[in-house]
Amino acid sequence: MGEDVIKKDDLIYLILDSRRKWLVTVEEGGEFQTHKGIIKFDDIIGKPFGSVVFSQPHETQGYKFHVLKPLPSDYVIYMSRKTQIIYPEDAGLILIYSGIGPGSKVIEAGCGSGALTCILGNYVRPNGYIFSYDIRKKSLKKALSNILKAKLQDFVSIQYGDILTEDFGHENIDSIVLDMPQPWRAIEKIKKYLKLSGTLVSFSPTIEQVKKTSSALQKNGFFEINTYELIKRKYQVKENATHPEVRMIGHTGYITFGRKINDVKNPYREKKPRKEEFINLTGMPLRSDEES
Ligand SMILES: C[S@@+](CC[C@H](N)C(=O)[O-])C[C@H]1O[C@@H](n2cnc3c(N)ncnc32)[C@H](O)[C@@H]1O
Repeated sequence: MGEDVIKKDDLIYLILDSRRKWLVTVEEGGEFQTHKGIIKFDDIIGKPFGSVVFSQPHETQGYKFHVLKPLPSDYVIYMSRKTQIIYPEDAGLILIYSGIGPGSKVIEAGCGSGALTCILGNYVRPNGYIFSYDIRKKSLKKALSNILKAKLQDFVSIQYGDILTEDFGHENIDSIVLDMPQPWRAIEKIKKYLKLSGTLVSFSPTIEQVKKTSSALQKNGFFEINTYELIKRKYQVKENATHPEVRMIGHTGYITFGRKINDVKNPYREKKPRKEEFINLTGMPLRSDEES
C-alpha cells in the first residue's frame, strides 16, 4: 500500500512541540493561525501524512510543524470538550474487555463530548454502529460536532435520550457502555437490549458508584462482574536521565464489566453452604466454637 496523502477535509494532527498540538480539519485555500505563524493548508494538501510544514511568513516565522494522521488516542486528548472525558488507556481497556470491534452494535450513555463515542465508532467500522444518548443539549451538540470532525457520522448516531426512563427499543446489542453519574439505576431497564453473552461496561470516578453498580449487576443476574483501575506512567527517556515523568494523572476512574447470561439453577448438584458461610446475627462468620 502507498503513502496516505492528505486531502481537503481530512483531519490532521498538527504538532509544534510536546505541549503545542492541535486536531485540525484541512480546508482548501484555508489556513490555521498559531502564535508561531500561519499554516497554509495548500502547503499540506497532496503531501503524505508524516510530512512537515513551515509556518508563514517563512522569513519572520518559519517554524517547523509535523503533520500526522490522528490516532484514536489523539481524538480523546485534543478534541474540544465540554465534559470530563475518558482517557485513552481506559478506552483501550473498554475495547478489549467488552469485545467491541468491527460489526459490533453498541449503546452508549452519556455521550458527553463524544470522545469515547469517536473511539468506539472508529473500531466498529465498517459494519457496526454506536447508538449514543445524552440528556444535555450542550453535550449532544459538542459530541455531534466531534463526530462530524472525525467523519464517523455513518457509524454513530447522537440522540437526545434519558437511559434511566426512556425505552429505546433496541434488541440484540453486543455492548452497552455507561459513563454517567448513576449507572446502577439504568441496569434493570437496559439489560433487555443486550444479547446473551453481551457486555455491560460502566466507567465511574468513585468507588461509591462502583459498589452500587456491581451490586445492581449482581441483582440483575450478570456474570463475570469485574472492576479495574488503570494507572498509566509515562517515561522521560533521555541519556542518563531516564525515569518516570514527574507529573502524572493519579486517577481517572474505575471500569466495571459484566456479561449477560441466561442463568439456570443446577438440578444435579445442589450446593450446600460451607461451614464458614454460616453467619451469626450480626453478620459475622460463625467460628466453630460458636456453632453449638
Ligand atoms: C462524564 S460525561 C460522559 C463523557 C464521555 N464518555 C466522553 O468521553 O466525552 C457524562 C454524561 O452523561 C450524561 N447523562 C447523565 N445522565 C444521563 C441519562 N440518564 N441518560 C443519558 N445521559 C446521561 C450527562 O449529560 C453527561 O454528558
